[in-house]
Amino acid sequence: MIENSGIPFAVDALVFDAYGTLFDVQSVASTAEALFPGHGAALAQLWRSKQLEYSWLQSLMQSPTHPRQDFAAVTAHALAYAADALALPLASHARHRMLDAYLDLSPFPDADPALAALAPRRRLILSNGTRAMLEPLAAATGLARHLDNILSVDDAGVYKPSPRVYHLAVDALKLPPLRIGFVSSNAWDAIGAKAFGFTVFWINRIGAPLDRHGPRPDCVIRRLAELPALLTAA
Ligand code: LAC
Repeated sequence: MIENSGIPFAVDALVFDAYGTLFDVQSVASTAEALFPGHGAALAQLWRSKQLEYSWLQSLMQSPTHPRQDFAAVTAHALAYAADALALPLASHARHRMLDAYLDLSPFPDADPALAALAPRRRLILSNGTRAMLEPLAAATGLARHLDNILSVDDAGVYKPSPRVYHLAVDALKLPPLRIGFVSSNAWDAIGAKAFGFTVFWINRIGAPLDRHGPRPDCVIRRLAELPALLTAA
């Protein structure tokens, strides 16, 4: 499903969101289901939505007396809230299993072949995650071998969709934003990246409506596997 005209797209490098785009955050649902039968999907879903909400709130609230909490802390707090809200008793061992599951997410099946097919263009991750979360995940899933760099919002001191975060990719790649293809399955991230000025591909796996708070991504596709064929020759 290519909803936008104007292909092929001329970009010199690709920048990927991590969670939900390359790595399936819903893969924690099986651990959640084993711990809390009948509630795994709900816990995984509320955990993710609170994690994102807390990241946005942290960006807005940060001040000299209230420094931003990193994504590991935000993720742990969001899990505690989600369990509480669903009245699920989150004992210490269960909490650790859930947080460990976040460090061991499954990649989407087409992530590896799509990243490989995009070579020789430079390919980076730009994520809310800390390096300590992202680097072992990229290594364990084998995606690291296709990546030239992993950028964390921690270097900008704020979360997506702040333009300061997207600027990290421009600084790393030394390319104009339009020559950088930004790829995210998170609509709010795709819109933030488009507002910044990248050429943006929204991976809309579930056929969701587009959020309305900013400019439209350049291209909407269902799967990462569709991306390589949309680009001009490298
Ligand atoms: C990330 C979150 C937003 O990886 O998915 O940045």
